[in-house]
Amino acid sequence: MITLGIESSCDDTGLAIVNPNGKVLDHITSSQHEIHAQYGGIVPELASRDHVKKFIPLLSILLERNSLSIKDIHLIAFTNGPGLLGPLLVGASLSKALGWSNNIPTLEVNHLEAHIYSPMMTEENLKPPFISLLVSGGHTILSSVDLNFNIQTLGTTLDDSAGECFDKIARKLGLSYPGGPQISKRAESSFDNNFVFPRPMIKSNSYDFSFSGLKTHAINIVNQTELTNKNINNISFELQNAIVETLISKSRKASNELGISNIVITGGVSANKKLRDEFSLIKECNAYFPDIKFSTDNGAMIAYAGLLKSKTHKFTKNYKIKPNPSLTL
Ligand code: KG4
Ligand code: ZN
Repeated sequence: MITLGIESSCDDTGLAIVNPNGKVLDHITSSQHEIHAQYGGIVPELASRDHVKKFIPLLSILLERNSLSIKDIHLIAFTNGPGLLGPLLVGASLSKALGWSNNIPTLEVNHLEAHIYSPMMTEENLKPPFISLLVSGGHTILSSVDLNFNIQTLGTTLDDSAGECFDKIARKLGLSYPGGPQISKRAESSFDNNFVFPRPMIKSNSYDFSFSGLKTHAINIVNQTELTNKNINNISFELQNAIVETLISKSRKASNELGISNIVITGGVSANKKLRDEFSLIKECNAYFPDIKFSTDNGAMIAYAGLLKSKTHKFTKNYKIKPNPSLTL
């Protein structure tokens, strides 16, 4: 059974094929960063149009370079939410049309779940139970995943996500979109940091996060500071440290209190080098990350999650299109 995965929840058109064992046979992603960079954030209408434009050419490339025809695909898994309505509609419509016209069943996949299981694609021995920290552009969710793949949310952000905090401060600093990688790069050139940012809710008993206070603090500092290269680097360094320390502190707390030593860190922010380095230094926990190319949105994680879901969920040839932009875990 070859599963085709289709991701289009935001600004990446991702397609991939996995074999019955969940091995990623091939994947292809077209990012829209250049289209949206000039606006400092994603323009939903432009995102939808680009998904429409890229989908068929990318599918042809993927099939051709693997000597496959659409008839070799046994299941089409696609992102049904959460995400931007337009881009989700494009992915859902194209997936269902492809399924209907070729008599292939389709399966809706929750984008958040797909992120959470993404490290299992490359970490063969990784299985639940584990603590999951999902840090993407739209979400910051701490949860526990039990042996049967039931996900229980422990805490979530009360306001902005960690990715949003990276992106908004980057924009304020005049750095391009997406901001996370830019902040990370700038932070590497900080050698004499003199800024001190808060670590939000680090002492609170709850597993929730809140990044809007940190964001406001950083914006105020940026407003009062001459934006020389040195100051941009130092602000980036301190912002990254504050976000990383906060994420690690809550994840460790969950791991200790629930007695689960494996922590799985996923979503776009999991590409952050500092976050990866700091997690790997924690002796009492085992930190797992997706392969760096599967940290940000991609079709492989959708195909993989679709395959996992197909083992426990019935899938029918139901071609109703009903994306859910505010789907949760
Ligand atoms: O998971 P993702 O690709 O899309 C959503 O589902 O939201 O996450 C995108 C987010 C953006 O906020 C981006 O700035 C952040 O991931 N990101 C990073 C890095 N790479 C991407 N944040 C920090 N460091 C990075 N290296
Ligand atoms: Zn995502």
